[in-house]
Amino acid sequence: MSAIVIDGKAAAQKIRAGVKVRAAALREKGVLPCLAVILVGEDPASLSYVGAKEKALTEAGMASRDIRLPQSTGEGELLALIGQLNRDPAIHGILVQLPLPAHIGEDTVIAAIDPAKDVDGFHPFSVGSMVLERPGFLPCTPLGVLTLLRELPLTLAGAHAVVVGRSNIVGKPLANLLCRRDLNATVTLCHTGTRDLAARCREADILIAAAGKPGLISGGMIKEGAAVIDVGVNRVADPAAKKGFRLRGDVDFESALERAGWITPVPGGVGPMTIAMLLQNVLRAAEQQEQGHG
Ligand code: GUN
Repeated sequence: MSAIVIDGKAAAQKIRAGVKVRAAALREKGVLPCLAVILVGEDPASLSYVGAKEKALTEAGMASRDIRLPQSTGEGELLALIGQLNRDPAIHGILVQLPLPAHIGEDTVIAAIDPAKDVDGFHPFSVGSMVLERPGFLPCTPLGVLTLLRELPLTLAGAHAVVVGRSNIVGKPLANLLCRRDLNATVTLCHTGTRDLAARCREADILIAAAGKPGLISGGMIKEGAAVIDVGVNRVADPAAKKGFRLRGDVDFESALERAGWITPVPGGVGPMTIAMLLQNVLRAAEQQEQGHG
């Protein structure tokens, strides 16, 4: 058996087309949806991510305010900037690219963002709203994963979803969302302390790899016919590649293909969906602020 490879690019393109239409409607009313994108330092992966986000915003008929700050930027300086952006009515969303330099407190910075502009869904208020199943911004990567899963001809309700990885950005929110009443999956959250990871993974109808370890999940760890979603974006050295590296997921794609029912590739799976969900969140932020309840 060979798995069906899920085309994340095509799914993302559909969403982006819908966002573009709604953004045009907002512009008709004189509102240009705008995301402030803050990058501190010059981490190469972060530079590539923020570039992709800014390009996608422009293509969707929205704007980005690109703010690049030196590695030496102080926490106070960054907090003051966020305060200004919170008060600026032309800015509908604020994204601080992570990770931040070690001398800046990530928690303090995220907590300074107005939850009405928290399109990443990282603010404790957004996280609390998510857990309590109240309205609020949901984080983009988990939302992208759920959107892909909903397109598959499988029933989430009652299915066993195994999430590997407990990051604040992906693993924890995904585990939370999957067991919401409207999705109703049974969730196991695995991490570095999990005994017999392979056995836990083999129990999964839906297996989500978000550990940040290239090739961690091999075909032998996958139940026949499972849906496998690979969130890993790992740069591995490859002298034959133009940039000297290539992207590899947390799943060993070749062996997984033989066992899974569906699988997302890396690149071209979850990555494009994350950006599409960010566009959706920025648009929603602008719509809500235009209606005066942002
Ligand atoms: N770093 C890695 N992923 C993300 C993300 O989704 N948002 C932000 N702000 N930083 C990240």
